[in-house]
Amino acid sequence: MKYFFNDLNAYEKAKLKSKNNPNEFWGGLAKTFVWQKTWDKVLEYNFKSADVKWFLGGKLNITENCLDRHLKYQPKKTAIIFEPNDVNESSIHISYEDLHSKVCKVANMLKANGATKGDRICLYMPMIPELAIAVLACARIGAIHSVVFGGFSASALSARINDAQCKILITADGGFRGSKITPLKLIADKALENCPSIKRNIVYKRTNKKINWNNIDVWWHEELEKVDDNCDAEIMDSEDPLFILYTSGSTGEPKGMVHTCGGYMVYTAYSFQNVFQYQKKDVYWCTADIGWITGHSYIVYGPLLVGATTVIYEGVPSYPDYGRFWKICNKHKVNQFYTAPTAIRTLQKQSLKYVEKYDLSYLKVLGSVGEPINEEAWRWYDKYIGNHKCPIVDTWWQTETGGILISSLAGITKQKPTYATLPMPGIEAVLLDDYGNEINGEAKGVLAIKAPWPSIARTIWGNHERYKSIYFSKYPGYYFPGDGALRDDRGNFRITGRVDDVVIVSGHNLGTAPIENIINKHPKVVESAVVGFPHNIKGSALCVFVIANTLVDENRLANELSALVSKTIGPIAKPDRLLVVNGLPKTRSGKIMRRILRKLIDGKDQEIGDVSTLLNPNTIIEIKDKLQIRAVNLG
Ligand code: WT7
Repeated sequence: MKYFFNDLNAYEKAKLKSKNNPNEFWGGLAKTFVWQKTWDKVLEYNFKSADVKWFLGGKLNITENCLDRHLKYQPKKTAIIFEPNDVNESSIHISYEDLHSKVCKVANMLKANGATKGDRICLYMPMIPELAIAVLACARIGAIHSVVFGGFSASALSARINDAQCKILITADGGFRGSKITPLKLIADKALENCPSIKRNIVYKRTNKKINWNNIDVWWHEELEKVDDNCDAEIMDSEDPLFILYTSGSTGEPKGMVHTCGGYMVYTAYSFQNVFQYQKKDVYWCTADIGWITGHSYIVYGPLLVGATTVIYEGVPSYPDYGRFWKICNKHKVNQFYTAPTAIRTLQKQSLKYVEKYDLSYLKVLGSVGEPINEEAWRWYDKYIGNHKCPIVDTWWQTETGGILISSLAGITKQKPTYATLPMPGIEAVLLDDYGNEINGEAKGVLAIKAPWPSIARTIWGNHERYKSIYFSKYPGYYFPGDGALRDDRGNFRITGRVDDVVIVSGHNLGTAPIENIINKHPKVVESAVVGFPHNIKGSALCVFVIANTLVDENRLANELSALVSKTIGPIAKPDRLLVVNGLPKTRSGKIMRRILRKLIDGKDQEIGDVSTLLNPNTIIEIKDKLQIRAVNLG
């Protein structure tokens, strides 16, 4: 493949071409896919109005590229290997031919239940092949999927369903996760009390546990019996939405990032192939959940687009013991393994016997995603998992970018521990100073992208102004991802973390504002501020500062707030520490200076810096004292 750089020379050539003639570069790449009609124009964009369009006028269906296209030359190849939570349950291999048939059947089932092109369909499911099948079935008929992570609470689910006005929900009676069962149907029932747009709830039977039954509910397996597996792919415009995926922002409401058919297809395949250097017979495994963008782009779409074998694991890394990931790598002879730093740090803490028990010699490439990987975790991953022979790709990207923008290409370009390294060919990453000026050479600044790439999110569902304001207004002329970065003298980028009020906890992107809103609802809370602080396993954890309206038992309040956050957002958003204070550092205009709180909790009082806008300096002294005496640990 012309756009597969399997040596440095091809890579350098591509880099040059993408710079000198981007339209030819991206257009040429797009030509390697199946289109019903070729585009009239490669790109049209205006960063001022936050409008981006790729492959204008092109017509396609992404599932023809994920499925039909492979039937000609590799129908029997395994597309999906399913590894169930329970070690005693057999794994399942689904061939491209079978996957095609299953997707078509589910697509027909969706149609029979009232779905048409453009409808939004919410998927709230466990990590089972049926989730991937449902995703593809939506794409097959041109319905817009909105996958909600199975760990989210009822109110988080209903907020997402209502924002997109979803017509159908697909869920399961429950999901197996380690020794626990997630009662998905029960949570969904609760959510649906407030979701008038949902007309049908399709329930997949996974756990066989007893559930309540409502009149909009139908069983997945019963509905499937009524349909066949002939389903022509709906012809989509390149710029028609393919899916919505919610990510947290620094204000209250979740942001529904909208990705479109043509550009997303081209970029996820391109980045998957080149970053992981996938070879024909390889088995690739990404441990993310399909409920996050990593799962969308690099469990489902990217791998299937290039005809790869992709592993889906239902459970958690610690079940039945901390050797499970390595056991799976051994069992399925995994060649490319892609996980998150938080998982690596957790596994690194366990006895090496969990690693040594297994044969990891099939591994060729290791990947990391979701947050900066610290050097210690990088070295451990390299030594014990990769046996010093597997390149590590540290991939920087976001829900908004759709695909990997900065990463080394396994075995082709140079890696550097803790550095995501170089932008992919076609990606123009720059560093800006506080005034929005580009800075050159070795430097520190905020990361920005100068020109669009095909898989950039096109908008926030129902709120283009918000999209424009978050990503395109602060530094006019650039896409601003919200991360800070360092660059070395060779152009390698090291991502230093968020520069806004988003905290990455165990690889989960959490806005502090929605958590504060929930905490503020507690009858004893007057005001609160949530900030992130370094945590040796989670990367960052949350600390909540609370002003209470009465004398409170801190332990009790901590537990109540923790339960409240868990119920409203989900357990992933639970704070680790709580501190009751009399005042919070504020600017004269009343804005809480979270920057100061972050330094205090991190013990970096010396680095607080400019406090000229601070209204109440005495709060700093109080918080410093309190931090020395006690802060309730919820960990
Ligand atoms: C944020 C995006 C990309 C899929 C998973 C998270 C952080 C992501 C890296 C990395 C340093 C990283 C950034 C980014 N991040 N990958 N390799 N090195 N930081 O997607 O939930 O949209 O979060 O995750 O801060 O902005 P997301």
